[in-house]
Amino acid sequence: MSDTWQKAMKVGIEVVDDDHRQLFALIQEFNAAAQAQGGAVDAGQMAAILTRLDAYVKGHFAREELLQVEAGYDGYEENKRQHDELTHTLAVFIEKFQSGGAGEAKAATEKMQAFLGVWLSQHILKTDMKMRGRILPWAG
Ligand SMILES: [Fe+2]
Repeated sequence: MSDTWQKAMKVGIEVVDDDHRQLFALIQEFNAAAQAQGGAVDAGQMAAILTRLDAYVKGHFAREELLQVEAGYDGYEENKRQHDELTHTLAVFIEKFQSGGAGEAKAATEKMQAFLGVWLSQHILKTDMKMRGRILPWAG
């Protein structure tokens, strides 16, 4: 499943790994609500999940970037660029969800449902994993 944290994603920095698990939990919540879109999920509930997801994503990126800057990590810029792209994608989606009609909100939600878990899995496995053993000397 692309929306589940796996052992292979362990970076070895506790605060980062805890954040990643929490992000997957929020994505699972988002996906569960999105799947029920045609049925009982109301826009208010969906908006509340999105607000929490957006806030947590931003908080996590800030924590991770600070660790990298403090460590003088040379992968910082690559990581920051990917973080900024995701923040932008999420902002565009939230805008579509809030200001579009019901049809547009539903289509955007379906796209995000397919995208979020895959993005996070790939980002952790391909980019965050490079931090392993290089931010904290005892981590990894
Ligand atoms: Fe990252």
